[in-house]
Amino acid sequence: MQHLLSIEELNASKLEQLIDSAAALKASRGSGAHPKPLANQTWAMIFTKSSTRTRVSFEVGVRELGGSIMFLSSNDIQLGRGEPIKDTARVLGRMVHGCIIRTFAQQDVDDFATYSNIPTINALTDEEHPCQILADLLTVKEKLGTWVGKKVVFIGDGDNNMSCSWIWAAKYLGFELVVAAPEACLPPTEWMNLVDAPNVSLTSDPVAAMQDADIINTDVWLSMGQEGQSEKEALFGAYQVNAELLKNAKEDHIVLHCLPAYRDKEITEDILELHADTIFQQAENRLHAQKAVLAAIAK
Ligand code: CP
Ligand code: NVA
Repeated sequence: MQHLLSIEELNASKLEQLIDSAAALKASRGSGAHPKPLANQTWAMIFTKSSTRTRVSFEVGVRELGGSIMFLSSNDIQLGRGEPIKDTARVLGRMVHGCIIRTFAQQDVDDFATYSNIPTINALTDEEHPCQILADLLTVKEKLGTWVGKKVVFIGDGDNNMSCSWIWAAKYLGFELVVAAPEACLPPTEWMNLVDAPNVSLTSDPVAAMQDADIINTDVWLSMGQEGQSEKEALFGAYQVNAELLKNAKEDHIVLHCLPAYRDKEITEDILELHADTIFQQAENRLHAQKAVLAAIAK
């Protein structure tokens, strides 16, 4: 692997290898056996959106793998004043050993990888959030043993970065995925045809989606950059993850949330607290999953 730009570019065996490597790194954390593949390397993070989990987990992860890391808010570098991403990439590519980018357009992350010629990681774009999905899959494996034969429901904004990355993961790993969202927030048919995943279905019926679900996954209704879109937000009332809706799921279901969570919007306070053990394990797993990615792509 040269980069991690999307889940789309992966396949079943790469996904499985990364999850297994994340589990091994988690198990050896803090021991003398922990590998240091980033020794003598300096990595950069360029973020044009807010972050708690991604920023902290990468800062800790790079250091634990023996490297050092600098955080560059886009407002602090010339990128924020209009310097093209391809120029930023060509400068950083001559100075640092790898770069982690959180931004809006997927094209910017792809261009950075092309022009910098250094390992590049997508730390969230409007299209995909690959690092999060790796942590989610590790959590599923830890909690349920496997995703094979499980029914996953993604409920909320069915056309955001999280749902799109989950759709690619389902295509490659073969589990059943139902995306439940208001009609206007389902992925376009043209895109679904392109993905071509017969095990992924779309519905606007949240109750039907939830039948016999093993894994219920939700995310904010308004992603970063969509703040203030109250008309969009108003569409989601019936898609809240709450006790009533979860009665339709399997009794031993788990609930995932990538966080940050907006209580009593996409998830109720009681359900978030009931599943806090899983949800914060999922947050911790960002660290282990991203260390697996760093170890896989470091030169
Ligand atoms: N889930 C996630 O990516 O969290 P942050 O936005 O805090 O990094
Ligand atoms: N869909 C959310 C994910 C946040 C981690 C967003 O893009 O804001």
